[in-house]
Amino acid sequence: MKDIFDQVQFANFSLKSRIIRTGGWERETEDGGFIKPSVFDRYENISKSGVGLIVSEMFALDPKDRFYHYCANMNYKGFIKDYKQITEIAHKNEVPILGQLAFFFYDDGVNQKAEPNDLTVEGIRKLQAEIVIAAKKFSFAGFDGIQINMAHNFYLARFINPYFNQRTDDYGGNTENRVRVVVEIIKLIKKMLGCHVSFRINAVDGRKGGMTLDESFEIAKIFAKNGADSVQITARTISFNFGEDGGHAFLSYANRLVNELDIPIILGGTLRDMKTMNEILNTTNIGFFSLVKPFVAQADFLSEWKEKGDGVSRCKGCNNCYAKKESKCFQFD
Ligand SMILES: Cc1cc2nc3c(=O)[nH]c(=O)nc-3n(C[C@H](O)[C@H](O)[C@H](O)COP(=O)(O)O)c2cc1C
Ligand code: SF4
Repeated sequence: MKDIFDQVQFANFSLKSRIIRTGGWERETEDGGFIKPSVFDRYENISKSGVGLIVSEMFALDPKDRFYHYCANMNYKGFIKDYKQITEIAHKNEVPILGQLAFFFYDDGVNQKAEPNDLTVEGIRKLQAEIVIAAKKFSFAGFDGIQINMAHNFYLARFINPYFNQRTDDYGGNTENRVRVVVEIIKLIKKMLGCHVSFRINAVDGRKGGMTLDESFEIAKIFAKNGADSVQITARTISFNFGEDGGHAFLSYANRLVNELDIPIILGGTLRDMKTMNEILNTTNIGFFSLVKPFVAQADFLSEWKEKGDGVSRCKGCNNCYAKKESKCFQFD
């Protein structure tokens, strides 16, 4: 029988469990932009709890970006010092950690909000260079790799989506062209840094003319073929209400990916109890789960689950942490 606390291989990492802690608005700072002790304490509690892998909260590229004030910052003078400490906390507890990059707008140097159709090829090169530099900064700070968020409604999600991308050059049109911008980034990071490159992708866009489930599947395959190391699945909004038979919204899609790709696939969203995850583990080929709100509700809940062999998150699903853009639980903190 498989169990969420199995020790497993995840691409180049050996994990202590199949649970991945994702995201969280952890931009809690003091004067000068340095992160507050509470963030270090949270990482300590999460790392010690039995988590397998941590994906950081999102870092945006540009101070003018939509969520910049809520998300983590790699452009202040304390970035390396602070995040070296964060990554050391994870590593001390034998937990690998990826830095997540996500941005909503892109400033190509001419237009602060250059949409995918507006970007010149020089603009694309600038974008690619900035993402490679971000990966390098993560690496300097001790992160084990980068997760590029091209899900939800972020810039790269729009770039790869036919609803937004009507370019007529090599970066638009068919699927292969629309994802070229990302494929080139993956190849560059792998060649220059060799670190783990994960990506977060929508299972489906949901808009008429937007990316379909089948196209999302094709895109994941293209990324894997070109060197990506893992995939985390989500959807455009965080209300996951299109599951079949009351099951998890992305279950069959994720299982299909697992069966066809030989890189780890992470299923996530609305997972709240150990029994359900163990059932999924033992009835499908899915091997990894990502959770956010359960960690916001109680950073070290996994230690209790491991000890008891069972458990349900105390998260009540009020969504205040997300709405108020804080990593604080409004029911229990
Ligand atoms: C407080 C909070 C912060 C989040 N921050 C991020 C983030 O930085 N990056 C990201 O990809 N998703 C972020 N999300 C979305 C989650 O990754 C996830 O898709 C969503 O919360 C559903 O998962 P859950 O049911 O396990 O919470 C955040 C969600 C919450 C509640
Ligand atoms: S604030 Fe609400 S949704 Fe967020 S962790 Fe707490 S109970 Fe869950």
